[in-house]
Amino acid sequence: MTCIKKNSLPLLALFFVISWTASAQKDYNLWLQYNKISNTQISSEYNAEIKGIVSLGNSETSKIWLNELELGLNAMLGNKVVVKSKLEDDNVIIVGSKSVLTSEIQKLVESDFEKINDEGFIIKSILVKNKKQLLITGKKDVSVLYGVYSFLRWLQMNKSIKNLNITDAPKTTIRILNHWDNLDRTVERGYAGFSLWNWQKLPEFIDQRYVDYARANASIGINGTVLTNVNANALILTPQYLEKVEALANVFRPYGIKVYLTARFSSPIEIGGLKTADPNDAAVANWWKEKAKEIYKKIPDFGGFLVKANSEGQPGPQNYGRDHVEGANMLADAVAPFGGVIMWRAFVYSEHDANDRAKQAYTEFQPYDGKFRDNVIVQVKNGAIDFQPREPFHPLFGAMPKTPLMMEFQITQEYLGFSTHLVYLPRLFQEVLDADTFQKGKGSTVVKVIDGSLNANKITGIAGVSNIGNDLNWTGHPFAQANWYGFGRLAWNPYLDSEVIADEWLRATFSNDENFIKPVKDMMMKSREAVVNYMTPLGLHHIMDTGHHYGPGPWVSNLTRPEWNPVYYHKADKNGIGFDRSKTGTNATAQYAPELQKLFDNLDTCPEKDLLWFHHVAWDYKLKNGQTLWNGMALKYQEGVNQVKEMQDTWNKTEKYVDKERFKEVQMLLEIQYKEAKWWRDACLLYFQQFSGKELPKGVEKPTQTLKYFESLKFPFAPGN
Ligand code: GCU
Repeated sequence: MTCIKKNSLPLLALFFVISWTASAQKDYNLWLQYNKISNTQISSEYNAEIKGIVSLGNSETSKIWLNELELGLNAMLGNKVVVKSKLEDDNVIIVGSKSVLTSEIQKLVESDFEKINDEGFIIKSILVKNKKQLLITGKKDVSVLYGVYSFLRWLQMNKSIKNLNITDAPKTTIRILNHWDNLDRTVERGYAGFSLWNWQKLPEFIDQRYVDYARANASIGINGTVLTNVNANALILTPQYLEKVEALANVFRPYGIKVYLTARFSSPIEIGGLKTADPNDAAVANWWKEKAKEIYKKIPDFGGFLVKANSEGQPGPQNYGRDHVEGANMLADAVAPFGGVIMWRAFVYSEHDANDRAKQAYTEFQPYDGKFRDNVIVQVKNGAIDFQPREPFHPLFGAMPKTPLMMEFQITQEYLGFSTHLVYLPRLFQEVLDADTFQKGKGSTVVKVIDGSLNANKITGIAGVSNIGNDLNWTGHPFAQANWYGFGRLAWNPYLDSEVIADEWLRATFSNDENFIKPVKDMMMKSREAVVNYMTPLGLHHIMDTGHHYGPGPWVSNLTRPEWNPVYYHKADKNGIGFDRSKTGTNATAQYAPELQKLFDNLDTCPEKDLLWFHHVAWDYKLKNGQTLWNGMALKYQEGVNQVKEMQDTWNKTEKYVDKERFKEVQMLLEIQYKEAKWWRDACLLYFQQFSGKELPKGVEKPTQTLKYFESLKFPFAPGN
């Protein structure tokens, strides 16, 4: 029997509290861990090169960068870095924006300033009066802050700082999170707890989380946040809520983050007392103008509105016989005097349109090209259906050369296993960005549409549907933090390689030990293909259970709107499986440039990863590896399961590099992912087998349950719904 001495219980409890706190802190600290540098060579280099900080300027932003530098350097170097008021010694970090630098220093970086835009920064080793110093600067205070975070990241990666010469600047103007947060703090498609925004306690109570949220975003260059759900509530535009929004905007401002809101199109009726929300009605237009004035009076740097109109039941201009252009332009005129923008979403499909859902957004929006006001940017999801594990890029990219289009990615994993599955999304994002639209010949990649370089657009942007909630670790899964991080890094520079981003994130979040980095990075890079394999291989899509989208539901066929039923998407029958979108089917392929149309139309040239997206294919069709479609598909499902098993094996070997809590968390989550990968495999294969009439090939494990069992599973309380 264990004997606990009388006084030892509180001590023991204290020990647990302390170790719990330290561990929980790691979960909370995201990629800003600032671990003490264990590599002695690197730490002595840093200690020799960094003798102090001279911070110039006294804005709120300058206080933030000074705090951050002190925090990061003290923790990583293991001793207190001196903050100096004057430049006397060498090896000092000089931090300040262009306007406060001495003319001597300005001259040294004159040509560097020419290379960067207003948000870009310079990190450079310079000689001032023959003394070696390190300069972090930019044209604006927030650019200096970006430089400071970048410098700290550099140190977190243990890279040499002896001769730094870095210039970096964002390639897009709007780098924004879209929170699908409701005013009651539930989060649509949120899997990390409740909304961060505590509307009841605002504006007086400023939760430290708001500050830490802004800090994390600024550290990766995110400069905007839409606080509210696209399925909007007009109340957010009432004075009662606007003062709460103002309080948040005040917290975010010094971090360079602008606040945006979603605008419910029917607000003039719901909160304005008007009888109509017709965009061509003068009173309606005036109501929005006055509303904009009211908002900008409180929040002078308010970013603008994000609008979901005439989509999935949301009100919009079409309710009054007007079109998207008329609706967007009316709102654009209201915010234009204040420099605001309208992000108008192209996520539309109609219950009255029997056409292939994948074609509808293009059909409706492409003819509007060039008709929107200059301060409208059309926000397009990465694929034409809805954030599936894999979709071909949205055909609108490249097809509206006279209209700025912004990318909408989904960081929250609505269709990718919620916050229980480890899926490294930057891999998916990069695949889309790298895709060639051929709209202006070879090399007209999606990324060039997004950064404006293909069509010389003035406003550019990338939006990510947030995966953040009030969970201790922000994102539910420790590795889902990498998706927030990676989104921000790609929004800043959509040409970055997802593997490089994974490397940065792992080093900043966990450890610099190569024995950890190599296998875990490899695991992250493969995780996206794994989820495609065990959920929707070979171009299958939208076969998740309906409504909540948790788990498989290829059998669902009883919903009123045809395109809400998985059977609409896979079209499995005795002859085969897949959606014929080629010229013999819905001809959705014609929405792509001729080069791609030809490629996708032809079964022999259509990439196999998109096969069943574009074609209905016979069960006996021979895949490139010689297997029949049925066998190949079954083996893909099995491969996905095997890949999760490998992920588990990899993770199990990392125990000595990771703190206990996060190690355990990931281990348990991978266990769930493994169980659910098998569930996906078994449920889908049993269901499709009814049509193929074929045995499972060798190498595919036999299901342990019946199809009936899988069909009977119900999840009335699945999160995020
Ligand atoms: C999906 C998602 C909805 C969301 C919609 C949108 O359909 O399931 O919850 O509202 O996308 O992007 O507007």
